[in-house]
Amino acid sequence: MNKKTLLVTGGAGFIGSNFVLAACKRGHARIVNFDLLTYAGNLKNLDSLSGHSDYVFVQGDIADRDLVGSVLARYKPDGVVNFAAESHVDRSIAGPEAFIRTNVVGTFNLLEAVRSYWLDLTTAERGAFRFLHVSTDEVYGSLGPDDPAFTETTPYAPNSPYSASKAASDHLVRAYHHTYGIPCLTTNCSNNYGPMQFPEKLIPLMILNALEGKPLPIYGDGRNVRDWLYVEDHCEAIRRVLEHGRGGEIYNVGGRCEKTNLEVVHSICNLLDEMRPQSPFKPHTSLITFVKDRPGHDWRYAIDCSKIERELGWSPRETFDSGLRKTIDWYLQQADWVQSIRTGAYRAWIRSHYGAS
Ligand code: NAD
Ligand code: DAU
Repeated sequence: MNKKTLLVTGGAGFIGSNFVLAACKRGHARIVNFDLLTYAGNLKNLDSLSGHSDYVFVQGDIADRDLVGSVLARYKPDGVVNFAAESHVDRSIAGPEAFIRTNVVGTFNLLEAVRSYWLDLTTAERGAFRFLHVSTDEVYGSLGPDDPAFTETTPYAPNSPYSASKAASDHLVRAYHHTYGIPCLTTNCSNNYGPMQFPEKLIPLMILNALEGKPLPIYGDGRNVRDWLYVEDHCEAIRRVLEHGRGGEIYNVGGRCEKTNLEVVHSICNLLDEMRPQSPFKPHTSLITFVKDRPGHDWRYAIDCSKIERELGWSPRETFDSGLRKTIDWYLQQADWVQSIRTGAYRAWIRSHYGAS
């Protein structure tokens, strides 16, 4: 079988590293991982690929068009999967500039480098080339309790600097397909959880705080709803879109798993009570603390993923219970990983955002 080469940007982050590991395990592609290694990028995630013949890492910024161009010229990929982004909503509220820089200007420069590379390919290579942009359900805005779930035609209504910057990048990707004919695809996915997620996001933050007997800070009344998807299911959806999706199309990806934040945190606490029966912090629900709400906090996200189910035969495999068990188990086993990301910068974020260490 002729192996394809993929340029994966942001492959040292949470979803990107899960994708790279899965791709290398399948053995059907050579991976060039291009990542700036911001606070969210972690090469430890990819330790198991050390010496792997189908894996290369390049440190760099997607906004650096010349560097991206030279990587494209050197490795001649058959496709690009763009995970690189600033991804945390709370950080985008505290400091939006980095989000505009990477998510908007970075995606633009990446697209420009890809455009000049793509124009030099043969007609057959151009047709087979894929640019897959990994985006979010947050671009569609916020739902009320009885609203239907987001479809691929739901109008964009981003509410945070993060989602506005992702929406801008989605529009650029759409325009590069429409104007230049580059075979671009966009996936808009709901909330992911699983191994290697940076503990600024709800699920890993709650797991690690609960293990240490720290407060579990729930914004507002905890009734905001998210649609949860286990990260490996998301990676499999991306693979299918890359291999079988139609150029120019958008695919919504979701877990059909709507839960309030309070339900999520209760599930984590109950599982920890069971998996850590000797914990001095049992019952872990006693650590739940309600804190000031996130400004502009979207009330509900829900994804209608019937298009990818129907057209590409994908559906989520993991249930919330099985996925959450695997996730908690991973964090219980990975004390070194947890230690390594708790740098001074991480502690400074937690202090500035929650007011305590
Ligand atoms: P993450 O923050 O864990 O990882 C982002 C990665 O991008 C890091 O490795 C970082 O070093 C890298 N990066 C940042 N700026 C860069 C730049 N300028 N150039 C090159 N690399 C850069 O993010 P994640 O949670 O893995 O999300 C990946 C993508 O999926 C993002 O585009 C995000 O918007 C999207 N997404 C995330 C979720 C989720 O629940 N986490 C859901 C839907 C979509
Ligand atoms: O929907 C997809 C999006 O999901 C992705 O595009 C983003 O990259 C990803 O970060 C995530 O965004 P959210 O804002 O939904 O995720 P977060 O984990 O930050 O928060 C999930 C919910 O939990 C949200 O309603 C806010 C709440 N929350 C979060 C934190 C960090 C709390 O109540 N307390 C907290 O301390």
